[in-house]
Amino acid sequence: MSTIDSVLKENRLFPPSEDFRVKANVSGMEGYNALCEQANNDYEGFWADLGRELVSWKQPFTKVLNSTEAPFYKWFEDGTLNVSYNCLDRHLAGSGDKPAIIFEADDGTSTPVTYRELHQRVCQFANGLRSLGVKKGDRVVVYMPMGVEAVVAMQACARIGAIHSVVFGGFSAKSLQERIGDARASLVITANEGLRGGKSVPLQAVVDDALALGGCESIQHIVVFQRTQTAPAQWDARNVWWHELTAQQPTECEPEWMNAEDPLFILYTSGSTGKPKGIQHSSGGYLLGTLVTMKWVFDYKPDDVFWCTADVGWITGHSYVCYGPLAIGATQVVFEGIPTYPDANRFWSMIARHKVTTFYTAPTAIRSLIKLGADLPGQHDLSSLRLLGTVGEPINPEAWIWYHEVVGGGRCPIVDTWWQTETGAHMIAPLPGAVATKPGSCTLPLPGILADIVDESGAPVEPGKGGALVIKKPWPSMVRTIWGDPDRFKKTYFPEEFNGQLYLAGDSAHTDENGYIWIMGRIDDVLNVSGHRLGTMEIESALVANPLVAEAAVVGRPHEIKGEAVVAFVVLKQNRPEGEDAKRIARELREWVAHEIGKIAQPDEIRFGENLPKTRSGKIMRRLLRVIAKGEEITQDVSTLENPAILEQLRVSAL
Ligand code: WT7
Repeated sequence: MSTIDSVLKENRLFPPSEDFRVKANVSGMEGYNALCEQANNDYEGFWADLGRELVSWKQPFTKVLNSTEAPFYKWFEDGTLNVSYNCLDRHLAGSGDKPAIIFEADDGTSTPVTYRELHQRVCQFANGLRSLGVKKGDRVVVYMPMGVEAVVAMQACARIGAIHSVVFGGFSAKSLQERIGDARASLVITANEGLRGGKSVPLQAVVDDALALGGCESIQHIVVFQRTQTAPAQWDARNVWWHELTAQQPTECEPEWMNAEDPLFILYTSGSTGKPKGIQHSSGGYLLGTLVTMKWVFDYKPDDVFWCTADVGWITGHSYVCYGPLAIGATQVVFEGIPTYPDANRFWSMIARHKVTTFYTAPTAIRSLIKLGADLPGQHDLSSLRLLGTVGEPINPEAWIWYHEVVGGGRCPIVDTWWQTETGAHMIAPLPGAVATKPGSCTLPLPGILADIVDESGAPVEPGKGGALVIKKPWPSMVRTIWGDPDRFKKTYFPEEFNGQLYLAGDSAHTDENGYIWIMGRIDDVLNVSGHRLGTMEIESALVANPLVAEAAVVGRPHEIKGEAVVAFVVLKQNRPEGEDAKRIARELREWVAHEIGKIAQPDEIRFGENLPKTRSGKIMRRLLRVIAKGEEITQDVSTLENPAILEQLRVSAL
């Protein structure tokens, strides 16, 4: 992979400036090393101190880590708290009038919402949910556009102890239905439609379709936020307008006091096999993870204007839009739209207008904005910025250097943050006032995070050698289980090969001579397309569900902007199509996948064959498909291949 080659050659070091280091929350390598040492000397004491310092408890915990049912670890188990109280109420006395959210709508209008106002809106909505019978432990699916209401919906669930499961607004009715069914949710919160890039996005209509598919009998109400004037095509007796639900509700709402281990939310993510996994997070440990990383990695200061561009449909939007920034009392920008509307100046203009200090986005967005106008940031006053971040995939050094020079004016550290839906919060990232950065490396684990790179037997590999990235000790914000499937949780993350002792991240990585970690990519059949996680099996199952398709295999190939592109090899039940016929069927299959999963999973390329390359025992040889997808010559051994002629056919058939 060309990105990896260039990453491997990259060795420039960018230490923090003296000015940044002096003011930083963790200052210099002395500061970083001191924290690591504390964690090494007394692991539980280290996390207990942070838990007491950063989280407001109703009933303080006396127990720290309970490993008796490992890998089902418990943190702070006898403590009680409410996450929404931590995000809102505790700021009212000192910062009630501080803007919590500066909301910028798709059309460019912006509205500040203070902590006091946000608190009132969350309380009203929480009371509304209670009036519909939602109670502690119930599951609530949130299928919303980006905006203040999405945050209000999630915070209101947290306030009454309901477990939210946010489904990204780009997922199809089928995906939504599967998630509602798996979580046995009792309520869906949606909007009539969303607005992105000047276009409306159907939401309530997709919910209607999802419910019509069946299997969602658990749903009792659908709360609909009216984002636009478009009237709903259908209005079920179970539907309730958001504004009607909240109109008469009191602006105070007693929080439900939760045990630290009570689930805060489920978020579905793709795995290597089968259906998406409901990643279940806790209340106490998760909140601590978001808080400590806001402080260390984002070096949070009270006068910051923080902006994470992620949608709340992903973990990044949970931890660094909905929870972390509010829990620490920050002012943050929440953006409804897309980076290219009305044009590719949008992000830069927003940074200038809102005086953003901390900007956090995905490498794929950076790459596409370079392509659309590498000189555009220069036309805006970006002098408010002091810290930049990236997340979701490795960043190629070229894009890193551009981000550093052109966006950050050469003065802002870049925090390349490695983490996952399962980890809840950053795990490997430079503390910006301490760790010198290297373009393309997420650098060093955070204090209290024991990352390592191991071989198949679980033994650490030498620097420079690739291996599996693992975490050696449980950490507070870790996934607690897979909703409804504890066996799968155990097998996936704490496999027998490592005696159930190591958390297996699913990424391969290596370290360099400075001990810096370089992420190489997934070791399972998971693709990373524009920072979004997609299971190849999921796309394959969607394809074979089409009546025309006999067999399908999906692989990734490097893509300049998206990181990875989806390439599908398809065998039809009919003869292998050619010419216009092939184009038409390929188009149909793309639409089919959008319909089954969502547009984000649509294959970039489809190749039809009479068959797929298989071993004599019938196993599809994916490594050959990856070579073909890249457009490279096959130099590997094909002697075990049953049907070598098929390779040529697939090689010439890109559509
Ligand atoms: C996978 C997790 C974590 C929020 C967004 C994605 C990849 C994530 C980085 C990074 C290289 C990264 C990994 C990981 N990944 N951050 N800084 N450098 N790779 O969350 O959907 O759970 O995906 O994203 O492969 O396993 P996710």
